[in-house]
Amino acid sequence: MLRRLSIAVAGGLLLASAVAGCGGGDDAGSGNGGGGDDKITLGFSQVGAESGWRTANTKSIQESAASAGIDLKFSDAQGKQENQIKAIRNFITQRVDVIAFSPVVESGWSTVLKEAKDAGIPVILTDRAIDDPDTSLYKTFIGSDFVEEGKKAGDWLVKEYNGKTDPVNIVELQGTPGAAPANDRKSGFADVIKADTKFKVVASQTGQFTRTDGKAVMETFLKSQPKIDVLYAHNDDMGLGAIEAIEAAGKKPGTDIKIITVDAVKDGMTALSEGKINFIVECSPLLGPQLMDLVKKVNNGETIPQRVLTEETTFTPEQAKEVLADRKY
Ligand code: AHR
Repeated sequence: MLRRLSIAVAGGLLLASAVAGCGGGDDAGSGNGGGGDDKITLGFSQVGAESGWRTANTKSIQESAASAGIDLKFSDAQGKQENQIKAIRNFITQRVDVIAFSPVVESGWSTVLKEAKDAGIPVILTDRAIDDPDTSLYKTFIGSDFVEEGKKAGDWLVKEYNGKTDPVNIVELQGTPGAAPANDRKSGFADVIKADTKFKVVASQTGQFTRTDGKAVMETFLKSQPKIDVLYAHNDDMGLGAIEAIEAAGKKPGTDIKIITVDAVKDGMTALSEGKINFIVECSPLLGPQLMDLVKKVNNGETIPQRVLTEETTFTPEQAKEVLADRKY
């Protein structure tokens, strides 16, 4: 009798723990975002809509969440860190299962991420890193190696001018100040070209990753710099804006001024195939499927790698012509 009772109690406990385990491990908290069903709720804070890359990234995340059966709460920060912090706090209040975000800038995240940690909500960084040394504040970081991208841009330049001795004047269009891709693409590029003193960055300014600012800043470069040989733009959109400025100044982009950009979105690849851009370093925005996979694993309490790197390549005009028709974004 006593034995039967203890078996019944043990069975009841097992059932209770199975129900509690539904929808997530410890880190996921007990809630499912107030959705009232078994769906995982993901709160995602996006940087904004500054570039073709970003639009493709948003689409990838929204489509992948839908096909993975994940309830996505999407918030657009319009390029402002304070909006992202607000969005993350809202996700905590709503008790979503997992929070993911692409940080506008690298610094200033510890307070809000500690709040998420204290609430038991796991955080995933996507696309961009933060500079906080406390890696316990997030479960993983999925995205590109931006330093490597800058290095690839520099490597192309070094090869292109191999054997030449004349000074090479470079202008640089940087991304958003303080953003990981702006910092890292700048430093990776600088690291490679510093080995040869003929390369000189004669002007370097932010174009905020946008076409409009890329064009405006290039106009000022063209007025203030007597000789520009190369433009290095931290993304396609700024490069495309700069092309408009170069053409308006009566110069031929890709010939009078060589152009290197990063991203490889369709518009950039089109300009590359037409010879207006000379080289593009790819940065893939299609992070959605991998992110949803990680969200599910984190929610199940599974161990995941601290860093998930995106696979990427580079393109010359000839390579762009070959892949352009199939380019999805
Ligand atoms: O963080 C990725 C960068 O952000 C892309 O290269 C750029 O186009 C975007 O705005």
